[in-house]
Amino acid sequence: MKVIHAIDELRDQLRGQNRVALVPTMGKLHAGHLALMKMARQHGDPVVASIFVNRLQFGPNEDFDRYPRALQDDVEKLEEQRAVYVVFAPDDKEMYPEPQNYRVQPPGDLADILEGEFRPGFFHGVCTVVLKLFSCVQPRVAVFGKKDYQQLMIVRHMCRQFQLPVEILAHETVRDADGLALSSRNVYLTPEERAEAPQLYATLQDVQAGLRAGELDTDVLEARARERLASRGWGVDYVSVRRQHDLRKASPEQVRAGEPLVVLVAAKLGATRLIDNLEL
Ligand code: PAJ
Repeated sequence: MKVIHAIDELRDQLRGQNRVALVPTMGKLHAGHLALMKMARQHGDPVVASIFVNRLQFGPNEDFDRYPRALQDDVEKLEEQRAVYVVFAPDDKEMYPEPQNYRVQPPGDLADILEGEFRPGFFHGVCTVVLKLFSCVQPRVAVFGKKDYQQLMIVRHMCRQFQLPVEILAHETVRDADGLALSSRNVYLTPEERAEAPQLYATLQDVQAGLRAGELDTDVLEARARERLASRGWGVDYVSVRRQHDLRKASPEQVRAGEPLVVLVAAKLGATRLIDNLEL
């Protein structure tokens, strides 16, 4: 396994390869990330993992400075797993040697809702760095997690509109035994918060159970979920039932007709903001 920091060296290393599989990450790798690497391995060769905490996708009051960074640990984990051929770990100067004034502006109907409403500019930061990573690595496939459902959809949409020759593969959300979706940000949780955190997924399962039991009014389901979390001390940004294919709200007729839905949630436990979702 090679750890490469420079774009020129990466290009030299990958020259002539036309089946490259890329897994973009911000590091502090956990079993969810590693599952993505395994999937990449089944769909391409060589596998490249990128590790880069992308300043552009953090708001001014967000956790860019304290986002966990553990490159040495990450490299050891990847080495152990033997699923990756190259780790591309550029620093800020390498990715952004000058102010990034050319940026991808994703459409508001996808990017200004849900996460985008609470994290203005987040998806333009994500799209810009993903496009740039694709340009550096030139992968044939790239693997993303459903944990970040809206991100996955927007990246797919971007590839389609720009005719990027990259196939986007989706991996299911990897969870701890108690249901909590693995996340690099889980390290922020205190022991008490960690004990409470599985309630986020439990709430989504509750929405699913409600729908299955015949409660087809998504407003009612959302309100119930919001109250449940709020009463347990969570600060809820949103709980929203949406259509899977475009993240718009479904009409009552569509819900009745069995439109594929997904419930998405973002909520704060103490200072830590967690997101999750469940396809219904
Ligand atoms: P990061 O949060 O490190 O996640 C990297 C990839 O791992 C994303 O595709 C994410 O959806 C996936 N992932 C994270 N936790 C997961 C879990 N529990 N189960 C399955 N997949 C999981 O997402 C980003 O980084 C950044 O926005 C990035 C795409 C790298 C652009 O900077």
